Amino acid sequence: MTAAISAHTEIADGAVLLRSWLSSVAQREVLEAVRRLGESEAGFYTPVLRSGARMRVRMLCCGHHWNARTYRYESIRTDVDGLPAQAIPESLATRARGAAAASGFAINPDVLIVNWYGAEGRLGLHVDKDERPETIEAGVPIVSISIGDSGLFEFGGLRRRDPVRRFWLESGDAFVFGGPARLRYHGIARIAPGTGPAELGVPGRYNLTFRQY
Ligand code: SIN
Ligand code: MN
Repeated sequence: MTAAISAHTEIADGAVLLRSWLSSVAQREVLEAVRRLGESEAGFYTPVLRSGARMRVRMLCCGHHWNARTYRYESIRTDVDGLPAQAIPESLATRARGAAAASGFAINPDVLIVNWYGAEGRLGLHVDKDERPETIEAGVPIVSISIGDSGLFEFGGLRRRDPVRRFWLESGDAFVFGGPARLRYHGIARIAPGTGPAELGVPGRYNLTFRQY
């Protein structure tokens, strides 16, 4: 297996795309960790928003649970099944710290949200703003790692009406946005089914976002 050649692209001030950040071996390790999380009792579920709409992704939160009805973090999954959120596997937290450092940031992740997209999966434009105001103001980044099928990422500005840039997040890519980019709008327009590395055998796309509450 060949090591990935990683390329570092600044998409905007404070937003860095680390293309092929994870080698095939590292992607497999991440995938195995996600599989173990998914097999635990507090595994994947489909979040239901306060509007009553079902999200188009399955989700699993570690460290703290993100409640889709209140948009708040909590220790147990009160909007799902009352189970405690699982701990963030240290092997995954280490990868998040590494991607942040490579992008000129530091993070001590205490939240990991894994989104699992099927062929019809998508995520509307939104801002990640449910973390503590102090952390957001300090510009502590969101670190995103993608595994499996490619997802068409939309990256906008600080206002919903700002122009949006679209690019594919591929298996093994990391995307880090902090500092002046921390509150930019973003989402996933669509998934390209069957584009993930065949040898990984990922059923769809996993995206891991590491956050510091
Ligand atoms: C997110 O914004 O929470 C996830 C983005 C992605 O799936 O790449
Ligand atoms: Mn987000």
